[in-house]
Amino acid sequence: MREVRSSANPEAVFTYGAPPLKFGPGASAEIGYDLGQLGARRVLVVTDPGVAATGHPARIAGQLAGLGLDARVYDGVHVEPTDRSLAAAAEYARASGPWDAFVAVGGGSSIDTAKAVNLMVTNPGDLMDYVNVPVGKGGAPAHPLKPLIAVPTTTGTGAESTTICVLDVLAQQVKTGISHPRLRPALAVIDPELTLSQPAGVTAAAGMDILCHALESYTARWYTTYEHKRPEERVPYCGSNPVSDMWSEKALGLLARSFTTAVRDGGSRQARSDMAMAATFAGMGFGNAGVHIPHACAYPIAGRARDFRPPDYPGTGPLVPHGMSVALTAPAAFRFTFAAAPDRHLRAAALLAPGADPPADPAEALPAALLRLMRDIGLPGGVAAVGFTEADVPDLVAGALQQQRLLATSPCPVTAEDLAGIFSRSMELW
Ligand SMILES: NC(=O)c1ccc[n+]([C@@H]2O[C@H](COP(=O)([O-])OP(=O)(O)OC[C@H]3O[C@@H](n4cnc5c(N)ncnc54)[C@H](O)[C@@H]3O)[C@@H](O)[C@H]2O)c1
Ligand SMILES: [Fe+2]
Repeated sequence: MREVRSSANPEAVFTYGAPPLKFGPGASAEIGYDLGQLGARRVLVVTDPGVAATGHPARIAGQLAGLGLDARVYDGVHVEPTDRSLAAAAEYARASGPWDAFVAVGGGSSIDTAKAVNLMVTNPGDLMDYVNVPVGKGGAPAHPLKPLIAVPTTTGTGAESTTICVLDVLAQQVKTGISHPRLRPALAVIDPELTLSQPAGVTAAAGMDILCHALESYTARWYTTYEHKRPEERVPYCGSNPVSDMWSEKALGLLARSFTTAVRDGGSRQARSDMAMAATFAGMGFGNAGVHIPHACAYPIAGRARDFRPPDYPGTGPLVPHGMSVALTAPAAFRFTFAAAPDRHLRAAALLAPGADPPADPAEALPAALLRLMRDIGLPGGVAAVGFTEADVPDLVAGALQQQRLLATSPCPVTAEDLAGIFSRSMELW
């Protein structure tokens, strides 16, 4: 049995936070009304060029203008934001502001950019003052932010409900985040109709992000295994708990029903709606419980991408999309964590692949379900297929070790050697 985490002075309290939510086809046609309720007059719509080309951001800005609001579209978001792209977006917002509110229309890249812009125009200092330690200084915003309405167009990150902004710090070749309750959007508007135009490759990668959010939060160390905290020490990620479990389990059921269909038949409204709901549910789960090894390993894979160009991500440079980078080490990671929480791994496998024949070794149930799905939806067959070799493993391990906030959420302790094994076993998945 792998060592399970425990504490001498165990925590007894868990927390749960989420924004108000509007869900359903047509929900994005009501944003003008919602902004009126927030008292906003000047509104910046934040998006990326690919989403701008779908016409959704212009349609939403037009709706606001029709209600007498002063709305402008910023479409300069970088797909998978960097410290440089966030600074440029903040500079645009400063020069064209002041703004009363922000509306992010897009995937995690647009929503996270709007969070960073909002932080930078309402608080002093530099982005790195707020980036998680050890990469940045990990400071807390002293002032409240402006209202942000987050309107996801991918079915993936759950960024519309989380307190997190993920960015690539170029000089350090590392992906990391800013995390603070003040970053949480004031309202999440989830309109599955906006996700119909998502290309198959984006649906596959973003869907693996949902799946890993659900699986990692479901298998995260239980909240009472942490040290007891004082109220001012509480962080958004408190470990798995009865409320986050409920969201994660529901998300897994929806993914089992509709993930493959959404990739193969993007016009299926039923599958798109299920995926949008799964993304939201998993966001509610992981946004409170936390994620662990696959996300910690994903950040160096994405941060050190050299020449891999994923299908369906036009106009971007070399990139391993977030969901893809998370998925690649997930089978090996869940094989590694199995012994720390066998029942949870088995239940997750049963929810994801109901009716599948149980393998001889129970530790293989969840990895097998993941591998079947990844092949089915056309993901690359391992870390080697996105441009890495065994010689990169020490570098990848060093990058993953920087994600201590995430590794601390693993149900069992993780050493550098464990991570090296996980990366090596993820080089060729099939
Ligand atoms: N804040 C959080 O809680 C959180 C959680 C997980 C991931 N992330 C971050 O989010 C980013 C990834 O976000 P994502 O996976 O949602 O994708 P994305 O925002 O990076 O978009 C991916 C691609 O899909 C296109 N696209 C998006 N919606 C479309 C639509 N409806 N029709 C046509 N094209 C569309 C975009 O133009 C882009 O080319 C990463 O930077 C990741 O680190 C954030
Ligand atoms: Fe993620």
